[in-house]
Amino acid sequence: MKSYRNTILTTSSLLTAWSDHSDGKENIPTFWTAEEYIKYLISFSEKHNLQPHISFRHSVRSVRKCLDTNKWLVTVLGGRPCQGLERCDSYEEDPAYKPIIFTFDAIAVCTGTNTFSAMPHFEGEESFKGKIIHAEHYRSPDEFSGKHVLIVGAGESGSDITNEISKVAATSAICIRGLHGHILPRTQGNGTVSDLNTNRCRYSNPYLLGDWIGYVNQLSKNVLLKLQPQSDQSKVLLKVGELNLKQKTSAFTKFGCKNEGFVSAMVLRGTELHRDKFKLTEDRAKFDDGSEFICDAIICCTGYRNCFPFFDEFHPELSHAGMNPRENYKQIFAVDCPGEVGFFGFARPAFGSIPPTTEMQARLWAMVVDDQIELPSKRVMIKIAEEDQNNWQRRFGLDAHRVKGLVDYQIYCDMLAEEMGVSMSPTVLY
Ligand SMILES: NC(=O)c1ccc[n+]([C@@H]2O[C@H](COP(=O)([O-])OP(=O)(O)OC[C@H]3O[C@@H](n4cnc5c(N)ncnc54)[C@H](OP(=O)(O)O)[C@@H]3O)[C@@H](O)[C@H]2O)c1
Repeated sequence: MKSYRNTILTTSSLLTAWSDHSDGKENIPTFWTAEEYIKYLISFSEKHNLQPHISFRHSVRSVRKCLDTNKWLVTVLGGRPCQGLERCDSYEEDPAYKPIIFTFDAIAVCTGTNTFSAMPHFEGEESFKGKIIHAEHYRSPDEFSGKHVLIVGAGESGSDITNEISKVAATSAICIRGLHGHILPRTQGNGTVSDLNTNRCRYSNPYLLGDWIGYVNQLSKNVLLKLQPQSDQSKVLLKVGELNLKQKTSAFTKFGCKNEGFVSAMVLRGTELHRDKFKLTEDRAKFDDGSEFICDAIICCTGYRNCFPFFDEFHPELSHAGMNPRENYKQIFAVDCPGEVGFFGFARPAFGSIPPTTEMQARLWAMVVDDQIELPSKRVMIKIAEEDQNNWQRRFGLDAHRVKGLVDYQIYCDMLAEEMGVSMSPTVLY
């Protein structure tokens, strides 16, 4: 399993579960740990008897279309007996793995957005004497005990990791380049899970008023918090509000940081927040505003990039299509191979949750593969993909350039429902 030891999901069980498989606790949604989520996935696979159809321990090396048969040839390294859930990254060196070729009519790419890290380069990095790692290699705070740690990036990795590290480090700081993700605490002051607000009510607000509504909402929450007796929780929630208000973002226009971890670290343990770029020297980060942070470890929580090496040799155009999923029809169908190659899980809701989004994508794909729905011509798909791309870029601005698949959860799912003919009303983009 490739996540840190204490991972707790940032979307509630209600919003993470697929529509036909509940954990039986819908009335009391909670936040699963990584182990609990794996148990949920296993129970889903058992319910639908999926495991006999899965080749575990097979690593896809290349995907190529055979022009004689019109089939897709998928070369994998596999065949080693399955021994539990441990992971093997060195298939090439292990003689137990053999190349095998499978033949398919269509390819669903579900390799995830968090496989290849995006590692920044910092000015002066060469002279820095400490350690620099990416969050993908972070497992637990133990090795940072007593150290001076700088965390770069304030998405959900940055927030979780800052929170953990601040409990054991001598000093800690988090650094962002201007704006952090719009912060939404996992739970509200009354204990309900916050993502219950990811509903039609919110998305029925006119988009143009979104930031303003978010601002007023946040302001009123803060006024109420100030009237309450001050507890650690209310101090953290108040700070969340101040930070969101300061950068004037809302859940409408900024990707979400759906946990308040780094704010807890700031309020309760004195973690510093820096909003400026920095240069590194031997032992410190020097920020553009003149401040400094002495550090001996830097953890880059700077996100991930899409990458599809198995397409590179024979179909670089598909590799390209995956890297920018917006170029695909409805962020799923590669326009060069309509109905034959699809990408799943690469649309990322700014708020909301990826699994139910992929469920909608998979349903549409199944209807296309089953000839129940005919895709438009290539020309029309390209035109619609361009219109959709303009819509998402208008909504998410700069974020849409870095996080290529960013979408509004409800609006995107409604678009897919419309494609399938199961939408209750036409999707309105305003
Ligand atoms: N507990 C959980 O469930 C959990 C935990 C971690 C991650 N996740 C999921 O995993 C995915 C990835 O999350 P993530 O937090 O790793 O990445 P992320 O959400 O993409 O956030 C990356 C952060 O790094 C910053 N950044 C990127 N490049 C940078 C650079 N060169 N210099 C400085 N800052 C830079 C970004 O700033 P800008 O905004 O300026 O670009 C952003 O704040 C998300 O879908 C998230 O929901 C879930």
